[in-house]
Amino acid sequence: MPETRTLPDPLLDPSDDATRLAQRWDQRYPFVEYWFKLHQSFLWPAEDIESELSLDRQQWTKDLNEAQRHFIRLILAFFATADGIVSENINANFADEVQLSCVRHYYGLQNYIEGVHAETYNILLENLVPRREDADRLIRAVSDLNDPQFSSVAAKRAWMERYMDRARPFRERLLAFIFVEGCFFQGSFLGIFYFQNKNLLPALCVANRFIARDENIHTRFAIDLYRALREQCEPEHVYELAREALQLEQQFAAQALQVELVGLKRELMCQYLEFVINGLLRDLGLEPLSQVTNPFPFMDQQGMQGKTNFFEQPEHNYADRRIKIPQRRLPPAVGSGDPVQAVGSGGGGGAQAVQHDDSSDSEYEF
Ligand SMILES: [Fe+2]
Ligand SMILES: [Fe+2]
Repeated sequence: MPETRTLPDPLLDPSDDATRLAQRWDQRYPFVEYWFKLHQSFLWPAEDIESELSLDRQQWTKDLNEAQRHFIRLILAFFATADGIVSENINANFADEVQLSCVRHYYGLQNYIEGVHAETYNILLENLVPRREDADRLIRAVSDLNDPQFSSVAAKRAWMERYMDRARPFRERLLAFIFVEGCFFQGSFLGIFYFQNKNLLPALCVANRFIARDENIHTRFAIDLYRALREQCEPEHVYELAREALQLEQQFAAQALQVELVGLKRELMCQYLEFVINGLLRDLGLEPLSQVTNPFPFMDQQGMQGKTNFFEQPEHNYADRRIKIPQRRLPPAVGSGDPVQAVGSGGGGGAQAVQHDDSSDSEYEF
């Protein structure tokens, strides 16, 4: 059962004009500036994928089999609407509820890039599914829990919409959207990285790298914000949501891989998703559900599990080096009441736009 009690929290208190109206970074929540500036340094337009679209189209008809095309259609059907739901939740809920002006600035930036994601997926969808009626069927299917091919997408969408209901406490909804951006997108990212390893669908793969990086930032920001709340959900409730999200994403993987693609077996994909959910639980300060290992080491190179310094990958030359990234500092540990703590000794910004702590034991390393 959802909790119904909402305790006052400075982040959510509309009576504090200094918090609500002051147009400045708030030193009680220094992570906000860090994520904002980092995100700002990585902005990109949908036009970045245009030069590769024709090759995607050629390979779609010549080089992909029907199982692979089904997989990509399912992914696009989900993504074509998921960004819209995340964006709607920011507009209708989070950016309205959170009273801290700098968090609202961050949400403005996230909302902008969610729009770029939606635009990009629509370009990809039009390119690979050019008949308008086929594309429309895909979009409609994501709402139909009885559609035999797309019911798993509809189930994920229904779960997202359940946690947009303001009758539920903010902390629970924030937690749910950590699992949306940190888990519901991961099966699709993994699937597209699989095609990247096969040198297929370059436009889709470029988009995937940029979008996975952005969603990584959104997830980590949301975890920091959640940890800064005065009151979090009970651990049992966190586990309940984590299990629900994991189960839905595993169902999605099973439905997407009706015929197993070579090298991307269904059970390994499910194991990978369990590994991802464990990482989110760890960052939320909880024990993992299990001790599974990552069956897809190549995903380490995509920065999805914190094993490599993600933002030093070659494509991150896109980072706008005019942007000064401050040192990253964490909110107080859950329930500790401790003052804000610095993460490592990286940072400093200046000419080096992207500075990260790169010690291997940092829980926030990319
Ligand atoms: Fe997105
Ligand atoms: Fe996002």
